[in-house]
Amino acid sequence: MLQTSERPLEKILESYNDQAPLAEALTIPAPFYVDPRIVDLEARTVFSRSWQVIGRTDQVEKPGDFVTFTVAGEPVVAVRGNDGVLRAFYNVCRHHAAGVVTEACGSAQILHCPYHGWNYGLDGSLKGMPEFDGVRNFDRASNGLVPVKVETWEKFVFVNLDPAAAPLEQFLGGIVKRVAPLGVSKLHYFASRSYDIACNWKVFVDNYLDGGYHVPHLHKGLSSVLDYKQYTIENEDRYCLQSSPMVASSEDAATGATRTGDRAYYFWQYPNFMINCYEGYMDTNLVLPVDVDHCRVIFDFYFANVESEAAKKYNEQSIAVGDRVQDEDLGICEAVQRGLKSRAYGAGRLSVRREAGEHLFHRLLTADLKHGVGQSAVAAD
Ligand code: FES
Ligand SMILES: [Fe+2]
Repeated sequence: MLQTSERPLEKILESYNDQAPLAEALTIPAPFYVDPRIVDLEARTVFSRSWQVIGRTDQVEKPGDFVTFTVAGEPVVAVRGNDGVLRAFYNVCRHHAAGVVTEACGSAQILHCPYHGWNYGLDGSLKGMPEFDGVRNFDRASNGLVPVKVETWEKFVFVNLDPAAAPLEQFLGGIVKRVAPLGVSKLHYFASRSYDIACNWKVFVDNYLDGGYHVPHLHKGLSSVLDYKQYTIENEDRYCLQSSPMVASSEDAATGATRTGDRAYYFWQYPNFMINCYEGYMDTNLVLPVDVDHCRVIFDFYFANVESEAAKKYNEQSIAVGDRVQDEDLGICEAVQRGLKSRAYGAGRLSVRREAGEHLFHRLLTADLKHGVGQSAVAAD
């Protein structure tokens, strides 16, 4: 029998039947989570062709404000110009490829490369090159920073590395109208937390998308404020909304005090972004692949009030509740990753009542991977 790494990728992708209805479907098979070649294929397809969150709109409000990030291994920078237009570029100097903007976020008059001092305007145009007199046939106009598509939605800045990508709104589809009534743009960013987890990024997404299946077993505190039986799961376009009515909790005071309102809303947008809302509260989760069995998840927390001392104390308490839930998820995700490497496991079945979100995720992902598998890294650009 061929070892996983010797099996052609095409064969591994074909082993997932994306036509099977939920009641007959399997999960994507274990090699999707443990074969290192999948990481590269995902970078070229899933992450290079989808709209990816790289920051928050409040980070790029004024001319000169910038935010940097890495998407599919590519350094990018988004910066607001003096004309008020938000633009994004590969954060790679046209001289000898150094990173031009070295801070995570901030404000600048000019984008100044720290290596040999080339300067770029906020619109990406090359403004000046020290000691470049005498260089022949150099076209300054065609040596600006290389542009990347950028758009915003609600509180989030997205980029897309694919120059032929459809507009963000088309990519987002129905999630736009579902998030709009929640009024998240009135909330204020408060803090971030980052978790490094020893699992493939898709294990974390699967865990998120199991429709509350694991909640009563793994998250006793959270379970006490959700009406688990009424939990709904809706798929449309590239998003899944899991939602549950809230109930008053006497069991867990901290959870009851910080997870309030009529309903909890848990949105996942393909491939790696989640938005979780309670009343006066939102956190977002951005799931970033590190390697085949590691990922990093960045949580951003937003609240209705972030100014007063009392509000800050409440917000910290709320984040601590999130931390506990996260610890519970982290342990199980790492256990799943170990299990996926076992010879005893190939693929699993899905609960019709609970796991429609995972089914959508696996079909969208496989479609993207199949689209790119026959193409070389160069041809995909
Ligand atoms: S690499 Fe940027 S100025 Fe040389
Ligand atoms: Fe969980």
